[in-house]
Amino acid sequence: MIDFHTHILPKTDDGSRSTDESLQMLSALKEQGIDTVAATPHFYANDESVHDFIKRRQASFEALKSKVSDGMPEIIPGAEVRYYEGISRLDGLRSLCLQGTGLLLLEMPMRRWTDYSIRELIDISCSGKIIPVLAHVERYMRFQQKGIFDALLENDVLMQINASFVNGLLTKRKAVGLIERRKVLFIGSDCHNMSDRPPNIGKAYETIRKKLGDDFSDSFNEYAKKFIYRKDEQL
Ligand SMILES: [Fe+2]
Repeated sequence: MIDFHTHILPKTDDGSRSTDESLQMLSALKEQGIDTVAATPHFYANDESVHDFIKRRQASFEALKSKVSDGMPEIIPGAEVRYYEGISRLDGLRSLCLQGTGLLLLEMPMRRWTDYSIRELIDISCSGKIIPVLAHVERYMRFQQKGIFDALLENDVLMQINASFVNGLLTKRKAVGLIERRKVLFIGSDCHNMSDRPPNIGKAYETIRKKLGDDFSDSFNEYAKKFIYRKDEQL
């Protein structure tokens, strides 16, 4: 099972503060049944270049990798990229995709998206080189016009929800419904640490299995893995 959204790389953003904390997070994810972890530190184009970010992320990734013992989940470097109008013209945008895939995790504005933004997401997707994945999409839903998410999905803009949306007593039903209707392909813990935002994804996967059955659950996981492990050239 995949955790598609984490802040597990040490000292790259407001997530893990040390290699030790990252290792504890990784162990917790393993205990929750996760075998593949997308490491998605925040990227803000205002603050640094893509080149500098990748250099910094790589150093952190290598520092962590050197301490990870056998049998731990595989970590794949990526980014949680804050969207801004014009992002499609950012040099190196594709290198912010989850490594080895064309999946680009985008953090969208917490307000009604402009027609320009929606068009730009679709254009990025239609470029054929990048598949946008909207991070924790549950946070934006209430701001958008009806039908926007279906229009985006029809154009292969994909959706990720946080485990907390599946775990929440008041939101569980909605989350499971979105998964059942294949509107959401990826789940992330969005874990930042071992204290106030710890890995919490095992329970979400259990809920999906309990509510939608083993067959659905297996095919959901396999489908997500196909996106992660297919070769870049297939895009
Ligand atoms: Fe995040």
